[in-house]
Amino acid sequence: MVRPIVYWPDPILDKPTDPVTEFGDALTTLLEDMLESMHAEEGVGIAANQVGVKRRLAWVCPEDGPPFEIINPEILEKSEPIELEEGCLSVPDEREKVRRFRKVKVRYQDRTGASHELVAEGRVAHVLQHEIDHLYGTVFVRHLSVLKRGLIRKRMLKLKAYRAEHDEDCVDPSHDHGSKAHNHTHER
Ligand code: NI
Repeated sequence: MVRPIVYWPDPILDKPTDPVTEFGDALTTLLEDMLESMHAEEGVGIAANQVGVKRRLAWVCPEDGPPFEIINPEILEKSEPIELEEGCLSVPDEREKVRRFRKVKVRYQDRTGASHELVAEGRVAHVLQHEIDHLYGTVFVRHLSVLKRGLIRKRMLKLKAYRAEHDEDCVDPSHDHGSKAHNHTHER
């Protein structure tokens, strides 16, 4: 089931998520919903708090190969910094350069609870850093100057107000409007 994306600014995006401690059917359902929601918005990654769930899990899409889930991820090592342009499903239509690291080593669990270590570069490294940031309460706009962030915040508040008024799909997902409201007819 596609779940609506939470738009920044929103408190759930600005706070660290809680670690996943139970690996079972509920987790699998959440993962499937997150994947559907990510595909519906043509994203290359998604974190649980972006669909309103305060849990430490996310999806990452490599350029060549299927998406994979990261649960309770942490960055163990970083290489030299690099500036990369990025956007976010929670901050639609905004793209900015952000300081990231060229290469990262991460540890995470999969849905069975098995632990993995991965050394990544390229897009996977970039998406990993963006999603892990999300899970610790950092939306990419936090890396921008106060001035830039303020301008984006203004545009987002306007967008949120507009959507709340014109598109039931995009109101605060903590309000339950029933499945009928989640048919996502809008396009970007
Ligand atoms: Ni994002």
